[in-house]
Amino acid sequence: MQITISHGETSKTEAFIVPIAQNSNLDTIFSLLAEKTNLPAELIWNDFKATSREVQTLYFTENNQSKRIYLLGLGESPRSIDVLNAFRSFVFKRKANLPVNLGVSFLYKNAPENPATWVEASVNGLLLGRYDIGLYKTVKKTEDDALDFNIEINIAEEHFVTASNAFKKGEAFAATHAEIFNLVNAPANKKTPQILADWAVKSGAKHGYNVKVFDEKQIHEMGLHALISVNRGSENPPAFIVMEYLPSSGKVHGKIGLVGKGVTFDTGGLSIKPSTNMHYMKSDMGGAAAVFGTLEMAAKLQLPMHIIGVVPTTENSVDAFSTKPGDVIGSYQGKTIEVIDTDAEGRLILADGLTYTVRHYNPDVLIDLATLTGSCIRTLGTYAGGLFSNNDELVDKLNLAGERTGERLWRLPLWDDYRKELKSDVADIKNFSGNPAAGAITAAKFLEDFIEKHPAWAHMDIAGVAVMDSEFSSQKSATGFGIRMLIDYMEGLIDAAKA
Ligand code: BES
Ligand code: ZN
Ligand code: ZN
Repeated sequence: MQITISHGETSKTEAFIVPIAQNSNLDTIFSLLAEKTNLPAELIWNDFKATSREVQTLYFTENNQSKRIYLLGLGESPRSIDVLNAFRSFVFKRKANLPVNLGVSFLYKNAPENPATWVEASVNGLLLGRYDIGLYKTVKKTEDDALDFNIEINIAEEHFVTASNAFKKGEAFAATHAEIFNLVNAPANKKTPQILADWAVKSGAKHGYNVKVFDEKQIHEMGLHALISVNRGSENPPAFIVMEYLPSSGKVHGKIGLVGKGVTFDTGGLSIKPSTNMHYMKSDMGGAAAVFGTLEMAAKLQLPMHIIGVVPTTENSVDAFSTKPGDVIGSYQGKTIEVIDTDAEGRLILADGLTYTVRHYNPDVLIDLATLTGSCIRTLGTYAGGLFSNNDELVDKLNLAGERTGERLWRLPLWDDYRKELKSDVADIKNFSGNPAAGAITAAKFLEDFIEKHPAWAHMDIAGVAVMDSEFSSQKSATGFGIRMLIDYMEGLIDAAKA
């Protein structure tokens, strides 16, 4: 695949995609298209309403060559995620029949004033549309052969430079997203904690950030007791992955600590889960994946930020050695924890990850991401991640980034009233109240006990949004939720610092 960017339509391009929002000036767009194709504008109007993901094909002849224009509907006021998804599903559905030389045209007054976000989103979407979830099939789909197309972005001359940068960014995001999809979609037998650690080491070496992996023995020596307790039932050892990114040169505008839940499979432990949907628990490392992807992207973009990524990773399995409901365990922080429910394991490993990050790096901002509770899915569905924070300013910035990227968050309370649910008779805290009401909130309250009173902490419960329905498969699959949002958040901090 080759991508180029130009300010005119070149003759070899056989088909152009023209993305169109419903609320754009359709009159102008259709009259320009009518001119190009020699078709009456009313006819185009009649057959194409620019609804989300609507596709209409037009034909025209140029230099004795028959060509196609695909009008691609984006719906009303599309956000970047809508543009991305429209392109992604367009390519996914048609990849077998698309011509080799494909253009995306912004020459019909069909892009916003500054087309950079659309260019980035369309390139990201075009490339992700080729994503194939059938990693372990012995016979690959034949249409894959046809995927090696050349894509040309046509844009007005004055936008050439911004569009070129946006284009590179879209390409970089797509490659990282595909990597992250593969990790999250991988079954647990192909995704042990060691395999996650190997991925991080490899990505760090390739993109220029530091990765340290602490093994089982070191985890014991360090005293990551909560992580050890979750790992007790597993034949695969745990790993504690610490990533650190600094730009190769120049000023740094802040230090961000990211902690991701890396449970490679959650059976529930002895508080075992029902079997119907248990296979989805291979994606219980969606938080870790978001942290991996964000570190990799930050390094690719050389963001002027100091970023620390911490991923405690383990399986939560059933065994004679497994931690039992009622067991009292320790933690890196020092507090004792009564494990009422072994299925509330994410908060245990995060507790150690959070304390470690604060004590060793003391970041300006501390953010954790985790597929933490079914309660959050029941509350927000697949439309937003749950956001919990002790800092209003941080919430505002994260919400803005969420809106801009379409990776939305919705704040839920952290009132101290909820803390009493976690009072244990025998230990400093218990990991579950026994009361399923407000489960996402009590989980967040549990984490709060382990952040060492950090003043700018945000917890994101991404259980509902880390895997979702999509064109890629009949089952839910990875979304990469969090990466675009966190990068956008950090870019906002950088812009503010520079202003
Ligand atoms: N990994 C699950 C949360 C989850 C559920 C993620 C469904 C994605 C889809 C988590 O470890 C868990 O089991 N949480 C329990 C906590 C409860 C026992 C307090 C839950 O939400 O039921
Ligand atoms: Zn669980
Ligand atoms: Zn879990």
